[in-house]
Amino acid sequence: MGKRIITTDETEEDQRLEPSLRPQTLEQYIGQEKAKKSLKIYIQAAKKRNESLDHVLFYGPPGLGKTTLAGIIANEMGVNMKVTSGPAIEKPGEIAAVLNSLNEGDVLFVDEIHRLNRQVEEVLYPAMEDFAIDIMIGKGAAARSIRLDLPRFTLVGATTRAGMLTAPLRDRFGVIHHLEYYTIKELQTIILRSAEVLDVKIDKAGAEAIARRARGTPRLANRLLKRTRDIAQVLYEGEITEEVAGKALDFLDVDRCGLDNLDRLILNTMIDKFGGGPVGLDTLAAAIGEDGGTIEDVYEPYLIKNGFLIRTPKGRCVTERTYGHLGLPVPEEKDA
Ligand code: ADE
Repeated sequence: MGKRIITTDETEEDQRLEPSLRPQTLEQYIGQEKAKKSLKIYIQAAKKRNESLDHVLFYGPPGLGKTTLAGIIANEMGVNMKVTSGPAIEKPGEIAAVLNSLNEGDVLFVDEIHRLNRQVEEVLYPAMEDFAIDIMIGKGAAARSIRLDLPRFTLVGATTRAGMLTAPLRDRFGVIHHLEYYTIKELQTIILRSAEVLDVKIDKAGAEAIARRARGTPRLANRLLKRTRDIAQVLYEGEITEEVAGKALDFLDVDRCGLDNLDRLILNTMIDKFGGGPVGLDTLAAAIGEDGGTIEDVYEPYLIKNGFLIRTPKGRCVTERTYGHLGLPVPEEKDA
């Protein structure tokens, strides 16, 4: 399967682009009002008491700003941030080395924290709770553990799958926030801000047109802005208006609801081959030549959230909205 423009995974281009677009303070950060409000209070309280901030866990779909918020926490606390991820740390000694390199108050950001293995996780428990690690020296009967003190630090964990976190790890976070999809209005504001940073000419209606197709995700909004700018510069006068944005996004095959070719292939296959469902995940996956797990984790959530697909005990079904969106008549007996 080719690369999707609407993937919420971080692409190489995002890695180059995102740092310049990332807000540095809570004041500049748009959206996630609940998380922002509580972080503001906790940060102020920790600073007043001259303490490190409690450990923070962010969970929610990719591309909603978990890394950005971790950076803002470090910035607002006036400390440095070290970044690592669950899959990058394989051995207990590796996490011990990272922890040992921290300075007083630092933020340690661990992305995809649900992917830490058990032995590594066990090093984190005393580190998070008592700011210490236990190191085993010697072997067999002579083995003993010594305790090494660490500076007080703040662990900021991020995960797309909170359900996969073990209870002992989850319980060690004092602050837990679910990040929500952004509203069109919030995405529009983010796009206008990014356009200013990137020196792109765009009007409010143009920004809204991009926002409508960005699947509630700032990472995608910024990527679509960049692609739209390219198309606007080459094919149109340069400024992104509603009309130009619409044409550019049609050209990119991202439709009015943010669906791309693959989303439409899934929905059309369900209608053409399975009478709109119910169809089992594996059957559907085989019919479109995709992995079932990928459909479930990557494609399906947005389709479900927007009412194009429902899960029933008998399998997946399309909805009336799906027929309408694809310009097809709703079958008579279909009342889903
Ligand atoms: N760029 C990406 N996400 C952002 C956000 N939430 N606020 C402001 N700019 C952003």
